[in-house]
Amino acid sequence: MACLIIVGTQWGDEGKGKIVDLLTERADAVVRYQGGNNAGHTVMFGNKIFILHMVPSGILRGTTSILGNGVVIDLPELIKEINGLEKMGIDVENQLYISDRAQLVMPWHKKFDQLREQKKGKSKIGTTGRGIGPTYEDKVGRVGIMVGDLLDQKKFGFRLRELAKEKNIFLTKFFDSDEISFYAEDIFKEYVDYLEKLKPCIVDTPFLINQLIKKGKNIIFEGAQGTFLDVDHGTYPFVTSSNTLSGNACVGSGIGPTFITGVLGIVKAYTTRVGNGPFPTELLDGDGRILQTEGNEFGATTGRSRRCGWFDALLVRQAVRLNGITSIAVTKLDVLDKFDTLKIATSYRLPNGEECENFPKSLENVTPVYQEMPGWKCKTKGLVNYDQLPTEMLSYLDKISELVGANVSIISTGPKREETIVLNPDQFWILTN
Ligand code: IMP
Repeated sequence: MACLIIVGTQWGDEGKGKIVDLLTERADAVVRYQGGNNAGHTVMFGNKIFILHMVPSGILRGTTSILGNGVVIDLPELIKEINGLEKMGIDVENQLYISDRAQLVMPWHKKFDQLREQKKGKSKIGTTGRGIGPTYEDKVGRVGIMVGDLLDQKKFGFRLRELAKEKNIFLTKFFDSDEISFYAEDIFKEYVDYLEKLKPCIVDTPFLINQLIKKGKNIIFEGAQGTFLDVDHGTYPFVTSSNTLSGNACVGSGIGPTFITGVLGIVKAYTTRVGNGPFPTELLDGDGRILQTEGNEFGATTGRSRRCGWFDALLVRQAVRLNGITSIAVTKLDVLDKFDTLKIATSYRLPNGEECENFPKSLENVTPVYQEMPGWKCKTKGLVNYDQLPTEMLSYLDKISELVGANVSIISTGPKREETIVLNPDQFWILTN
């Protein structure tokens, strides 16, 4: 038995989907434990490209895929995603399990998310507009609707009508959005239809996962977003509304921390961020544009272009600490192929002029202090043998490993499954079992 948590160490989009997909070959189940369809994972195999938002990437390999109690689910969008996967020949219904305790993203949550952002104007967070924040607000406010509530149609109908009344008042009076109204009866009919399709998938997932552990199975816990979007430890308020850290894998899936056997941190070889908020190593010049174009840095969920910058060692070192990371997978190294020199932020200059190597209280107005490294200036995309890697790339990797305090166990040289070098297979559980 082994339980591996896979988390993003920066602001999301580190390439978790590909690594989860790769490791799933040896897993019996993949569990998502937080977030919703704000996530976007791109996975390539053969000549097919799959973009997943909700369904765990394990589904592509025919592995048991679980949406845990900690996720928030937009049912119409989930069904669209399932239908799309089925059209591409993936068997979803027989492999997907959905927690009866997962919260539902309702139509008003999406509306609130979008209206709130509009109202904030320049200070907006830059959310994905998928209703994630308002859904978690209702969960914590104890007025949310859980997937399992759909099974009791009388109770669901009653709750829906009550909530729709309240939300409509909020929409019209607070947001001055008087044209919008929600017809509880229409939503009720629509959701009862969705239930028909998904009923066989809705189960007590903590029980299911604990049973799998008892049977000695290997389980991957697939994090969404990244460490610095965590609502407690990220660049608040420019964060998502869930805990993205490894610690939440236990709460969001209903297992004890004593079962966790490893935490693999996914590290992009440079840094990107979508949405607003501080980003010390951001590049607004030609180098930033090279990273954006070469790395195809456009959001899988919203299509927005991602902000790009140099590798920030302070950020990832903090992520290693916060998540208890046992080894790292470095992705998208091939994107750096064209640079003469590469820069790594090794400390920050604080607004008061002081230089600090430790993670500061706030990333606002800090200036990165860089160490320069020579680039490798050759094509490395698709290399699969460690011996083929240029010495400059090996030095860059060694430097990252030393600065962040974790060993590199996987190197990714392209988006395809096979474009990967597994360095120290014994460092993460999945290959040792
Ligand atoms: P929300 O999660 O839609 O509320 O958005 C909050 C912040 O998290 C925004 O800056 C989003 O761009 C960012 N975000 C949410 N999901 C992802 C993701 O999967 N990758 C990268 N950024 C994300």
